[in-house]
Amino acid sequence: MDSKRHWETIHETKPSSEASWFQPVARTSLELIQRAVRDRTAAILDVGGGASTLVDGLLAAGYQRVTVLDLSAAALAQARRRLGAAAARVTWQEADILEVPLPQAAIDVWHDRAVFHFLTAAADRVRYVQRVRHAVRPGGHVLVATFAEDGPTRCSGLEVARYTPEELHGEFGNDFSLLSSVREVHVTPRGAQQAFVYCLCRYEPSATVLPAV
Ligand SMILES: C[S@@+](CC[C@H](N)C(=O)[O-])C[C@H]1O[C@@H](n2cnc3c(N)ncnc32)[C@H](O)[C@@H]1O
Repeated sequence: MDSKRHWETIHETKPSSEASWFQPVARTSLELIQRAVRDRTAAILDVGGGASTLVDGLLAAGYQRVTVLDLSAAALAQARRRLGAAAARVTWQEADILEVPLPQAAIDVWHDRAVFHFLTAAADRVRYVQRVRHAVRPGGHVLVATFAEDGPTRCSGLEVARYTPEELHGEFGNDFSLLSSVREVHVTPRGAQQAFVYCLCRYEPSATVLPAV
């Protein structure tokens, strides 16, 4: 089954509040974003945001330019339904982050919780980081959360890669200054514990030429 079909099936057959990754409040992401970026007109992209409640929190905090991108139309539909009229204040994009054309140096905050860790092929991780380097403006922030080194080895039937903060930062490289790393033990709706690591970086490219993708 291809990746889009896989995720559509998951989101079509389960309410978002029953997914293992569900958070009633995306507290750690919200705190890190608000600490890093006070400007409420900052362009924030939630990569693989799906039906996450992060967007609810960002709108409540006053952020005005939030885009939620996901492979799955069903996931985005769940989030839109939950938000009601407020959904009109968000840009929704059904797309594969490894394929979608992205504007250059246009994003102030790139957020990804529990998407990068599905990239178990090195070539996909390299491609992902190229896309970050293309789309995030120099001086912008990148917040990526994955399973920690002692987190689960699989999620929703797929293998994942697990990271220490140093390993996760290492995937992005020296042009990304690590500002903060946070370990979080997430409790799933069924009561299981899953260790996550969050890395917040500032993109400070040393080269003047941005990579084309
Ligand atoms: C484990 S869920 C995490 C959802 C959300 N970030 C959260 O923390 O609640 C992974 C999400 O990433 C989406 N996804 C997986 N691969 C993707 C890709 N290549 N491009 C865009 N979205 C993707 C899935 O559809 C799913 O909604």
